[in-house]
Amino acid sequence: MKRMKKIIIRGGRPLSGEVTVNGAKNSIVALMPAAILADAPVILGGVPDILDVRSLIEILESMGSVVKFENNVLVIDSSKLKSIPMLNGKINSLRASYYLMGALLSKFGEVVVGLPGGCNLGPRPIDLHVKGFEALGARVFHEKEVVCLQTGPEGLKGNHIFMDTVSVGATINIILAAVKATGKTVIENAAREPEIIDVATLLNNMGAKIRGAGTNEIHIEGVEQLSEARHFLIPDRIEAGTYLAMAAAVGEGVTVKNVLYEHLESYLLKLEEMNVKVTISENSIFVPAQGKLKTINVKTSPYPGLATDLQQPMTSLLLKSHGKAELVDMIYEGRIGHVSELQKMGANISIDKNKIVIEAPNKLKGTEVFASDLRAGASLVIAGLMADGVTTIRNAKFILRGYDRMIEKLTQLGADISLIEMDNEEPKIEERGKQWLTI
Ligand code: EPZ
Repeated sequence: MKRMKKIIIRGGRPLSGEVTVNGAKNSIVALMPAAILADAPVILGGVPDILDVRSLIEILESMGSVVKFENNVLVIDSSKLKSIPMLNGKINSLRASYYLMGALLSKFGEVVVGLPGGCNLGPRPIDLHVKGFEALGARVFHEKEVVCLQTGPEGLKGNHIFMDTVSVGATINIILAAVKATGKTVIENAAREPEIIDVATLLNNMGAKIRGAGTNEIHIEGVEQLSEARHFLIPDRIEAGTYLAMAAAVGEGVTVKNVLYEHLESYLLKLEEMNVKVTISENSIFVPAQGKLKTINVKTSPYPGLATDLQQPMTSLLLKSHGKAELVDMIYEGRIGHVSELQKMGANISIDKNKIVIEAPNKLKGTEVFASDLRAGASLVIAGLMADGVTTIRNAKFILRGYDRMIEKLTQLGADISLIEMDNEEPKIEERGKQWLTI
């Protein structure tokens, strides 16, 4: 019998006070694989204590890394790391385990991993990652869910790679594979997310030669050796954006701390369009109680555009606006797992081809809902805070994978929220709705 985690929220209570954002999940899931490229300890500060970090620790320890994690500081010593196939278990618990392909290919010249869905991970493919590895001289074989990568005796060779689609994961994975390749690699049409700069910063501190991270053209000069280093993570812009949406929805004066507003410019502009008033300081943003919110239309796009990860939290906030809103996720059309659940709560929301359409404002009523993925779960938490009555969010483990101590943080802000764990059969397929591949 599986243990099912549920979040219970009694809505309608105002939030006020301060909440501090942790280090970026989408950085740390790449920084940990990057750290194994050093044959000496790498120290990472500001690390969020989330399930994805715990899973990656288990994976690295299973390969021989010595890992210490306390007070948000992670020390990873991979001097005794061994190249072993990782076919199942924790490797399947997070999509970002694909970064181990680039890191292990770089370190050992070979990788055998089990990836749920193999090369074509359902709506989350990795064909661009594979194309990058092949461009650097790796040979790729995959049979169902097992992906094998191997280089010839001469190892990886730098190359000029043009990315057909802007991809965060593929950009980072190619950097991981190229930092110790012979010669120069150029990645054109690279993704520009801040997390890519974070990974390049750590690798350069370890002795790599990466230029242009954060732009759409990245140059990498291969080096022989990468050494120990220490690095402090950038704040999690998606966690920050999620708390800003909560503060705008039900807040009566909330300060979101440890925020680099530059990483949220497009999101802050959309909030401003909605008539959300905020005060931006050096590394925090204050959100007072809000007046009447205006409805807007939303389209996600690669950074510095509006992050697809904030489309779902913004959907819930828009339920409080006035008028008709249309949201189009240009990156993941299938990212609609929250819509059916918001409908259960009484929201006037529907899907029209590739658009999420909302007629607002909506009076939400607490009920039992299902989190189909991380950010859909976040959107249901926001809706639960807004709703009358009690909302029970099943499959809460997804939310805990990406948000450090969300229950404690929201309780601190005055929410009536708790986490319960109970024996429960797996949710029936129809309940899962369109199960978007978990991240
Ligand atoms: C990263 O996923 C993030 N995950 C996602 O955050 C985020 O939503 C996404 O980037 C977009 O910003 C991590 O960083 C761990 P992509 P990633 O490759 O790298 C297509 C969260 O909630 N594509 O940038 O997997 C893909 O289908 C997670 O924190 C290919 O076609 O996303 C998508 O349409 C969810 N082939 C587009 O590119 C590939 O080989 C962008 O995806 C790879 C991607």
